[in-house]
Amino acid sequence: MNIQFNLNGKPQQIECEAADTLAEVLRNQLNLNGTKVSCEVQVCGACTVLIDSLPVSACTYLAYEARGKSVTTIEGLEKPDGSLHPLQQAFIDEFAFQCGYCTPGMIMAAKSLLDENPKPTRDEIIHYMDGNICRCTGYVPIVAAIQRAAETIAQETKK
Ligand code: FES
Ligand code: FES
Repeated sequence: MNIQFNLNGKPQQIECEAADTLAEVLRNQLNLNGTKVSCEVQVCGACTVLIDSLPVSACTYLAYEARGKSVTTIEGLEKPDGSLHPLQQAFIDEFAFQCGYCTPGMIMAAKSLLDENPKPTRDEIIHYMDGNICRCTGYVPIVAAIQRAAETIAQETKK
């Protein structure tokens, strides 16, 4: 089938089969490999992307379901001038990754959190992020990175 959607701010048209997942289309057809695939059963969060600003697991979300919607992947977070999104920068500054496999999904879920709740408490961050699994970091720097990004975004908003 032929479907159209908005991908990282630009119109996108693809041909896909009914059973193709969004993760397969993003990675194999559109070469957007930032979206990772691990469990493939909607448990780990590695494949998290935003559909109309809400997080979904691209490993089980069928590509055709994105028809007419707005899809944002980790590649879409960079600012027009090429600088990193505050969440991306905060993950670097807080050393919030080791292997990095979970990181794109973590950042996309965290973006959804901060869009919905710009000043989350530590407990709110932990609760919101409980669908995203990291085998490496112990989570402490990830929480710190999200707190740091929230502060940066708040400062940028004041300017
Ligand atoms: S790969 Fe999609 S939730 Fe794990
Ligand atoms: S940094 Fe390795 S899984 Fe999270």
